[in-house]
Amino acid sequence: MPIPNGQFARLRAFDQALGVQFRPSTDLAPLAQASEPVTGAVPETLEALQVVAAAAFPGVDSLADASQLVFGEGNPAADLVFVGEAPGAEEDRTGRPFVGAAGQKLDEIITAMGLTRSDVYICNVLKARPPQNRTPLPDEVAAHLPFLQQQLAIIRPAVIVALGGPAAKVLLNTSTGITQLRGRWGFWQGPAGLQIPVMPTFHPAYLLRQYTPEVRGQVWSDMQAVMVRIGLATDNA
Ligand code: URA
Repeated sequence: MPIPNGQFARLRAFDQALGVQFRPSTDLAPLAQASEPVTGAVPETLEALQVVAAAAFPGVDSLADASQLVFGEGNPAADLVFVGEAPGAEEDRTGRPFVGAAGQKLDEIITAMGLTRSDVYICNVLKARPPQNRTPLPDEVAAHLPFLQQQLAIIRPAVIVALGGPAAKVLLNTSTGITQLRGRWGFWQGPAGLQIPVMPTFHPAYLLRQYTPEVRGQVWSDMQAVMVRIGLATDNA
């Protein structure tokens, strides 16, 4: 992928605006984590998979209050997929992922990377809103995880960004917390030996709550590593 004109200047300006000395995530040793392989037939298109997911909605009784499926959206051939935790109120109302306050922060991150929402694909571990936005229960994750796995197997992005602990734990099949996971490459293991690099980072909602130079710097450092990996920037650390 060619580096867009002005990209580096924009990145440097972003760095200077934040006033943080970033440590590239690529300095850190990779984690040898991998999730369990996916088995079974995979629908060939996201549209076909969405039909299956809609028929299964909400998938588990504890999600019965959700009003509609929030499947995911974006470029079906994206190099970059962002995976969050679960839809919130605004996502439940619109049927679209990351359109509330956390979504606006994610939009800012995507823009800072020199991309738009239509360049990337955005989805969640859960495809239905948990009551009162509580953390997904294990059986809810178990019911919805096949849809996420099949989405990733269809898109086959170059990189997955796990937004927050629940997404990182599911994709990397680990119980390690996000503070330790972030900034270190792991791998999601898909069907037929498919392995896709995963960059865990803090959830945009956490960034909203902890809008400190340190946390912003960590997230941006993680995104810089992603940009290097997908050819949007060079590793000139
Ligand atoms: N909105 C989403 O779609 N996912 C999250 O994880 C949070 C907000």
